[in-house]
Formats: sequence, structure tokens, C-alpha cells
Amino acid sequence: MSENKTILSFVQPSGDPTLGNYLGAFKNWAKMAKEYNCIYAIADLHTLTVRQNPADLRKNSRQMLALLLALGLDNEGKNIVFAQSHVSAHAELAWVMNCYTYIGELNRMTQFKDKSSKHQANINAGLLTYPCLMAADILLYKADLVPVGEDQRQHLELTRDVAERFNNLYGDVFTVPEAYIGKVGARIMGLQEPTRKMSKSESANANNVIFLNDDINQIANKIKRAVTDSDNTIKAAEDKPGITNLLNIYCAVTGKTVEEAEKEFAGMGYGAFKGAVAEAVVEDLRPLKAKYDEILKDKTYIDNIIKDGAERASKIAYRTLGKVYKKLGFLPRT
Ligand code: TRP
Repeated sequence: MSENKTILSFVQPSGDPTLGNYLGAFKNWAKMAKEYNCIYAIADLHTLTVRQNPADLRKNSRQMLALLLALGLDNEGKNIVFAQSHVSAHAELAWVMNCYTYIGELNRMTQFKDKSSKHQANINAGLLTYPCLMAADILLYKADLVPVGEDQRQHLELTRDVAERFNNLYGDVFTVPEAYIGKVGARIMGLQEPTRKMSKSESANANNVIFLNDDINQIANKIKRAVTDSDNTIKAAEDKPGITNLLNIYCAVTGKTVEEAEKEFAGMGYGAFKGAVAEAVVEDLRPLKAKYDEILKDKTYIDNIIKDGAERASKIAYRTLGKVYKKLGFLPRT
């Protein structure tokens, strides 16, 4: 049954790809590709809510795609990989969504509150209506399942509410999506600030984030320099965020459970523990990085894949959009 279900997820290409993107999301996207019809895209339209440098955006977009392709998500078979801005149905349905979502609902989004306090000089309308575009992304493809991290859960809830509202008014137009629960991916925190998500913008410290662009030695060294605590037991616990994060990283690359890892490392010192985590990460990343580096050199390959992806995505997206426009009472285009 699951093979007929559609799973959808987008990622913002707003920085260099990190270990957090890989272990927190893409590694599982690749696994899910075996079981579901998958729609994956870079959410380039979404990045505009925060000012972007055009050259960086272009570079980051290709890098994010290179990582997806390196993982085998490549438009062969039933998966579709593309760039959101290449399918204009996203912007079109987003407008409709804007008109069926209440300002009060958008004002309640915690991400809006967070981001508007962080970017006070640029509280643009897109920052507020961002969930409407995300709802459009999901609803265009009749996605059944959306794997989301904690930070996107509220946006998915809103998508469900708006889809139901629309269906109640116009009949069954949209598939109401569900959050994909199951192993969504590890929540990878910063190596220097393990109470916050691993993310470049959160910290100026280069050792906080592992980038896929880092070389293997750099990656190992960053892990060996990760903050721990003054205790000396290797256990996941709320008051041990550094050790917990390293255990989660170790488990994400090895597929082991935290309990198994804790047993394996019982009695070991922090230095040796970090060495073992570094080794496991390096072993997992080495072949992936080789592919990633190779794909990144071939811009034409990447650009051709997403061209094909956009064509396939468009077929599905415009079918849904056409149905919506008809229900709304727009004149048919004959
Ligand atoms: N808003 C998501 C993020 O910042 C990215 C995103 C855009 C997305 N559209 C989506 C995620 C649709 C899931 C489904 O991470």
C-alpha cells in the first residue's frame, strides 16, 4: 500500500549543506524513496523571506541538489527532484492559499514570531504568509505524508486546517496531508552549542557546524573539538546536551540505538568516545562526499536533472491547480 502513497519534502537552499541536512533529513529521504512516491525540491522561493545574496543562492541551490543526487535521489523511477521556482503553480496556488488563511492564524506561528524578532528591519509580508506557500507546495502534489521536524510541525497543522476549510467549501479538492511519523531523522545540534540546532546562522564559530564541503580531516577535527561536559559518563540526558548530540550523530550514521551505543561506550573516556564518533562519521561520509564533489563539478548534469524534474512536477501541479481554479469559478481556458 505504501508504494502508492506520496511523500513530499522541501529544503531551503539558504546555506551550505550541513551534517544536519544530511542526517536530520536527506538520509531518511533516501530511505523513503524505496517505499513511496517521493516529491523533493529545493524551496528557493521560501528563501526570499530573508534577504539572500543571488550568487550564494545559486551556489547553495546547486549544492543542496548535488547532495540529494549523491544520495541517489535523481529523478530515475518514481522520484521527482526539482526547484520550486521552476513550477509557477506554487506561486499561483500560494495566492489562493493566502485568501483562505486568516491573519490571526499566521500571527500565531512561532517561526514568524522568532524570525520577525531576529530580522526586525525586514519583517516582510512573505515572512508572515510563508506557511501559505508551504501549504501550496504540499497540496499541489496531493501529498499523503510530510516528514517534518519540530520547527515545521505547526506549518503542517495549518496546511491541514486550510485544506479542510477549502474542501468543506468546494468539495474534495485537496488530500489532507499527515505528518510522517516514524524515523524522521536525528535532530542534529551544534557541536559547540548543543542546545541549538546545527545551523550556520546560529553561530559564528566555525567548529559548530559540519559542512559537506569540509574535508574529511576537518570533519573529524570538529567532532573531536565538540563541547562535552565536566562529568565523565557517556549517557544521553537532558543535562548532557553535548554528549547526547554526539550519541545521536553516532546512531544516525551507524543505525544503532542510543541504548546500544551507551553500552558500547560504557566506561570509555570522552576523548576516545569522540574519536570513535569521528571515525564513524568519516566512514559514512567519505563515499557520499566523493559523489557529492563529483556531481557538483557537473553543473549541466544538475541543471538537466531539475529540468526533467520540473516537467514531471508540472504535470501533477497544474492538474491540481486547474481543478482549484475551476472550483473557484475562474473561466476555463479554452
Ligand atoms: N519550510 C520548510 C523549511 O524551512 C521548507 C519547506 C517548504 C517545506 N515547503 C515545504 C517542507 C513543504 C515540507 C513541505 O524547512
